[in-house]
Amino acid sequence: MKEKLEALRAEARAQLESCSTAAELEALRVKYLGKKGELTALLRGMGALAPEERPKMGALVNEARSEIEAAMEAKVKALEEAELNRRLEEEQLDVTVPGVAAPMGKKHPLSQVLDEIKDIFLGMGFQIASGPEVEFDHYNFEALNMPKNHPARDTQDTFYITENILLRTQTSPMQVRVMEKQQPPIKVIAPGRVYRSDEVDATHSPLFHQIEGLVVDKGIRMSDLKGTLELFAKRLYGEEAVVRFRPHHFSFTEPSAEMDIRCFSCGGKGCRLCKGEGWIEILGAGMVHPKVLQGCGIDPEEYSGFAFGLGLERIVMRRYNIDDLRLFFENDLRFLEQF
Ligand code: PHE
Repeated sequence: MKEKLEALRAEARAQLESCSTAAELEALRVKYLGKKGELTALLRGMGALAPEERPKMGALVNEARSEIEAAMEAKVKALEEAELNRRLEEEQLDVTVPGVAAPMGKKHPLSQVLDEIKDIFLGMGFQIASGPEVEFDHYNFEALNMPKNHPARDTQDTFYITENILLRTQTSPMQVRVMEKQQPPIKVIAPGRVYRSDEVDATHSPLFHQIEGLVVDKGIRMSDLKGTLELFAKRLYGEEAVVRFRPHHFSFTEPSAEMDIRCFSCGGKGCRLCKGEGWIEILGAGMVHPKVLQGCGIDPEEYSGFAFGLGLERIVMRRYNIDDLRLFFENDLRFLEQF
């Protein structure tokens, strides 16, 4: 019986050793320790022993039971730990690993600066209007005090589609479109594409962008024009920006002016950027011509206004020292990624 017990212990030890799942382990528990298990069977067999042998044998069997129980418990722990390690390994997630950056697009430099300019005017209470790029001759010229055969038409290198339809050469037709629809007070800007049949070179493109501005109300004066545009220049170029107004001519404004900003590269001494002038022209402007107001059904005796137009490309080129206009339209990522 003693040998039997020894054999049982050895067998149990070996089987426990090689067991690798909770289910197998449970089967072994039943097999050795269960009510119908092998140890229980051995205990039952003790009746056949001599009375003085029984306590010894009983102690041995209990010892074996304890040993098997302890081994099982250890095995349970080992299996649980192995399972935990396996899961940790499998579900490993290192939250400190840097993310993989998705390639991000960017706004085109023209859009970036246009957004900035829009913000400046929105901050001054302007609204934003937009209108057609394919325009009637009437809006682009006629209603702007440029009748057929007006000499100023020649300077605009117009793309005609039919005799009366063209690609707008300026955003100024938006002045007329806004005033036709809306009675004063009016305070709008109208950014957009304009077209002129220019040869493409470093400073000319058949497509470029302008931003039109129009303010009409009672008692609007030249000083409002100057104050508004000077404030705009300071917002765009910084507080230290200095501007000046020079007389000019536009058929749809009277009087008319161009606004220059003191060259921010040389401070006015004259350099390559300002072509030795010390000043850089940034926009055309003037008091809305009474004929234009009248043509839109606004009484020039009651209302007055000012208008201005600025070229976006030139502003962006000077801001970033870009010397070739074509770069804006070629969409070369090596260029665009720099902004
Ligand atoms: N439309 C003019 C141009 O293209 C600019 C301008 C706009 C001038 C509004 C005066 C008032 O040159």
